[in-house]
Amino acid sequence: MAATNLSRRSLLTVGSVGLVAGVAMLSGCAPTPSAAAKSGALVTALSNVPVGGSFNVDLDGNALVISQPTAGVVTAFSSICTHQGCKVGGRDGVLLCPCHASEFSITTGAPTTGPATTALAKLEVKIDGPNIVVA
Ligand code: FES
Repeated sequence: MAATNLSRRSLLTVGSVGLVAGVAMLSGCAPTPSAAAKSGALVTALSNVPVGGSFNVDLDGNALVISQPTAGVVTAFSSICTHQGCKVGGRDGVLLCPCHASEFSITTGAPTTGPATTALAKLEVKIDGPNIVVA
């Protein structure tokens, strides 16, 4: 009988964690790149990011999309869509979510076409010689 109670408790705990995560995702909370991205950490080579385009990378478990809106200006955002968590990628000068077609600015990360209404979480980056690093 005790094993049954423990099992129910475990299920309730797992269910509660899943519910909280699901509510956060549906409420449009932007996942923030973790503090594990330390200042000076290599993000990618600048040559990987086309001018006017984007490049997806994983930095210490953070799914990021790096853009270069104009030559010598770089931006980095979480690539996790603020609508329901699909992974966005660059296409035709915007960040496009393949799930429900939200589009985000490669300059600001703000949504330009819904259903997403919240901007992608930003990570400050800078150019350091031939590379893009965490600012
Ligand atoms: S998950 Fe991106 S638009 Fe729905």
